[in-house]
Amino acid sequence: MNGSSLRKAAGAALIVLAAAIVYFSWWAAPGNAAAGEAVYKDHCLLCHALNGQPQFTAEKVSRTSIDSLTERDVQAKSNADLKKIIVEGDGHMPPVKGLSHREVVNVIAFIRSLKK
Ligand code: HEC
Repeated sequence: MNGSSLRKAAGAALIVLAAAIVYFSWWAAPGNAAAGEAVYKDHCLLCHALNGQPQFTAEKVSRTSIDSLTERDVQAKSNADLKKIIVEGDGHMPPVKGLSHREVVNVIAFIRSLKK
């Protein structure tokens, strides 16, 4: 390799590295609770009230008791566990479809904001 192609290769590697860093910081950026509240209102309110308490009718329809999302054992779950519940469903909760990664991260931040 001569000097110029070496520089080109190094330049290309730098661009790939920069793109990876940008992508990773987007992926790993902390959730925004205010944006998450909007997601929650659109996708969760049918079954979970805005304050995290269960919706009475949802409990009746699914014949189960739904934990308040403010509760300690819900708040103790990792973000990965919460994401799994939201995206894949959990017991009587159906999966919530059509959310982007960002929307899930934000709605989790909103759930965290309900912690007592
Ligand atoms: C169609 C009704 C429904 C919708 C919509 C819904 N959920 Fe649920 N959710 C449930 C039910 C029912 C449970 C209890 C599941 C069980 O214990 O079997 C539950 C449980 C949960 C839990 C776990 C609580 C625990 O005890 O561990 C979390 C967290 C949760 N929901 C978050 C969400 C979020 C966030 C959304 C919106 C993105 C959402 N849910 C939308 C019905 C729903």
